[in-house]
Amino acid sequence: MASQTNSNQPRSRLIIHDLARRNGHADFARDIHRGLTSNPKHLFPKYLYDELGSRLFEAICQVDEYYLTRAEDEILTTHAGEIVSSVPSCETLIELGSGSAEKTRKIIEALIRQRGELLFVPVDISASALEESSHSLLDSYPNLRIDAYAADYFQALAALPKRDAPALVLFLGSNIGNFERDQATDFLRGIRGVLHRGDALLLGADLKKDRAVLEAAYNDSLGVTRSFIINELERINRELNANFDLWAFGLRSVYNESLGRVEVYLESLRDQSVTIRGLNLTISLQVGERIHVENAYKFDPEDLRKLGAQTGFSLERTWLDQQGKFSSNLFRVD
Ligand code: AVI
Repeated sequence: MASQTNSNQPRSRLIIHDLARRNGHADFARDIHRGLTSNPKHLFPKYLYDELGSRLFEAICQVDEYYLTRAEDEILTTHAGEIVSSVPSCETLIELGSGSAEKTRKIIEALIRQRGELLFVPVDISASALEESSHSLLDSYPNLRIDAYAADYFQALAALPKRDAPALVLFLGSNIGNFERDQATDFLRGIRGVLHRGDALLLGADLKKDRAVLEAAYNDSLGVTRSFIINELERINRELNANFDLWAFGLRSVYNESLGRVEVYLESLRDQSVTIRGLNLTISLQVGERIHVENAYKFDPEDLRKLGAQTGFSLERTWLDQQGKFSSNLFRVD
């Protein structure tokens, strides 16, 4: 369902297509049942991002140990001009997982400098995040139009309108690292399927590095990451009428060097049982037992080149921040 207003104000430059799934509660209940009755138990990163979870993630981006956002912002601030000049007549900027779209401003400004005006197509699962960020962008840039999709990535890719002029697609923040390898290739192939010759993809990817730096980024001393992860248990309490005691879990973030990923777990601090009334389910956890919540894969340049080659892209150029922690990678359609 699309909504549009008809005045000359910023709102008249905004269309929001709300394709978010209507049976989200049933999916949530089914997935949580499956995850908590598996051995070992696991939860799903996609359910971390309810309204509070999205705000907690924004807070993570500001803690000292979580260098990713600052490093990517430094790259975009320094190199936005060069990045956009790789797509000379770009009229459309598409961003998958746009969130607050703060870092995107650097690219939007560079494209408006290049072309005078721009169509921005943000895609995010959260309609409220889209609405908030779209209004703020439209207030800042009079020559910007926004055609936003509240949808999951595959739904949005299928719904994007046909284009004639070149587009730049952004997938920032190392979101690619939260996919398993096969999901990452499916996803990039999905993007490739809607692109044409001359289009490009800018992919933000965090780099493999020292274990201590990586583990601290996913277990900050302020405890914001713990709040973000444990909010999924709170969400189960709220939406599925469960009685998880949030103080009875600790956060464990471990770099698995052989798999090149930080694994994020909640660890039971005592023997306990938890009842999830909405699922008609009681589970037991032993002291030290872990619930696997998410993986954050890390990359090196060769991983990224291969990922491109498997999905119909060539890696044309990579920019790093000054400390060499994070990469922004321009992929060209083969
Ligand atoms: C959203 N994503 C890129 C974050 C990451 O770094 O993997 C999610 C996150 N989980 C804990 N801290 C941040």
